[in-house]
Amino acid sequence: MSGTILAIDQGTTSSRAILFDESFRPTAVAQQEFTQHFPRSGWVEHEAEDLWTSTVAVCREAIEKSGQPLSNIAAVGITNQRETTVVWNRHTGKAVHRAIVWQDRRTADLCARLRAEGHEAMVTARTGLLLDPYFSGTKLAWILDNVEGARASADAGDLLFGTVDTWLIWRLTGGRVHATDATNAARTLLYNIIENRWDDDLCRLLGIPMSMLPDVRDSSADFGMTEVEVFGTPLPILGVAGDQQAATVGQACFEPGMVKSTYGTGCFALINTGKTPVASQNRLLSTIAYRLDGQTTYALEGSIFVAGSAVQWLRDGLKIISNAAETQALAASAAEENRLYLVPAFVGLGAPHWDPDARGAIFGLTRASGPADFARAALESVGYQTLDLIDAMHADWSGDARTATILRVDGGMTASDWTMQFLADILGAPVDRPQVLETTALGAAWLAARKAGVWPDMAEFASRWRLDRRFEPQMAASTRAQLVEGWREAVRRTKSAA
Ligand code: G3P
Repeated sequence: MSGTILAIDQGTTSSRAILFDESFRPTAVAQQEFTQHFPRSGWVEHEAEDLWTSTVAVCREAIEKSGQPLSNIAAVGITNQRETTVVWNRHTGKAVHRAIVWQDRRTADLCARLRAEGHEAMVTARTGLLLDPYFSGTKLAWILDNVEGARASADAGDLLFGTVDTWLIWRLTGGRVHATDATNAARTLLYNIIENRWDDDLCRLLGIPMSMLPDVRDSSADFGMTEVEVFGTPLPILGVAGDQQAATVGQACFEPGMVKSTYGTGCFALINTGKTPVASQNRLLSTIAYRLDGQTTYALEGSIFVAGSAVQWLRDGLKIISNAAETQALAASAAEENRLYLVPAFVGLGAPHWDPDARGAIFGLTRASGPADFARAALESVGYQTLDLIDAMHADWSGDARTATILRVDGGMTASDWTMQFLADILGAPVDRPQVLETTALGAAWLAARKAGVWPDMAEFASRWRLDRRFEPQMAASTRAQLVEGWREAVRRTKSAA
């Protein structure tokens, strides 16, 4: 059988489909953006139908571009924006509300109330997460409480919940499979990551009927066949993982202590912590990296909500660049004495601060400040935020420090050499950029190929990871210390409680 895999990457701003051959090379790519809805300040929604139609369209386009017969495709792998919450009617297949996106802050008050009632320690002990609006559970509760008739329909067993993977699997299989994988379940606030099951107490706390919840499977498992109408021939869905976990797999971070950081809309750094979950003392998340053959591998995660979207803001908000690629040349032209600090808390601050009420701030403005200084501050903010995550990880991680001192990076922003050099400088540690930058989709493809038995095993896959370039730190220690101090002060002044 041919080893071609169709990987679906349903992300926050676009849906993508990539065909990989058995040498892990992307042979055809298709991408489609869809509308972002911002009905109120801090609210972010997607039409569930847009997620579905754009996904099917890019799959068809990639298959057509490849010129390959469908019979060459051994399996489908799915990776997705995590936490985004969809609720639909199992009889009509229609979503009862737009999908509430992971960035959405509407449940900040509910989270604050639950924290004030003293529930956070129990929630964290079971889910590895914090009471922040980022996760699905409170978004799902909001839909049940705010969509007319939703709670009664849910209680009657007519409504289904899913993260985006589940929604796509359900549609791809013509409503036959209602399932998710352990990595996506781990982001809901309803899943006990220690016992690997939906947690009755958490469902009761948030008022979620357990009949709405999908079946939880391994990340490399049988998720059903696509309906014949979708692609013309049924294809098996054999791999599923949340996008950051799929990137961890695609970067072959299989050894405890290995760290990857992905720069998309936000930035998400994960350190593989092995077979036992590590409880963070530094407000990182404890989460599932992947589950294979019933065996869970855990990770500590640092999540930052704004990375690439700071560059989008330069382009669409400030209009000082016309495309993202211009940013690094503009940043490089900034004068040393005009340094600005941008704290891009546009939707609050994520790890390790978890401050949903903070809003972005810029420090150091003078009459001489101009576009170049803003561009540099935006790119540097990505480096500083990563530093905060890596520092927290090192404080939490007592395992092998050898692997943990190298960072594997991927995602759109890593194309910028300037940004990666600043990252290495500010971390004071090497940054490794791989040859294949499609690591998220590659991870989903490997999970599917593993189940199909058409690609090499974990060890062989890991041995074929290839370095494009290592960025070595070059900045003087004193300069670094001074810059970091300026950043810490800027963050302190941005926090809502400050
Ligand atoms: O947790 C949110 C994350 O999964 C979104 O990733 O790549 O769509 O920004 P991305």
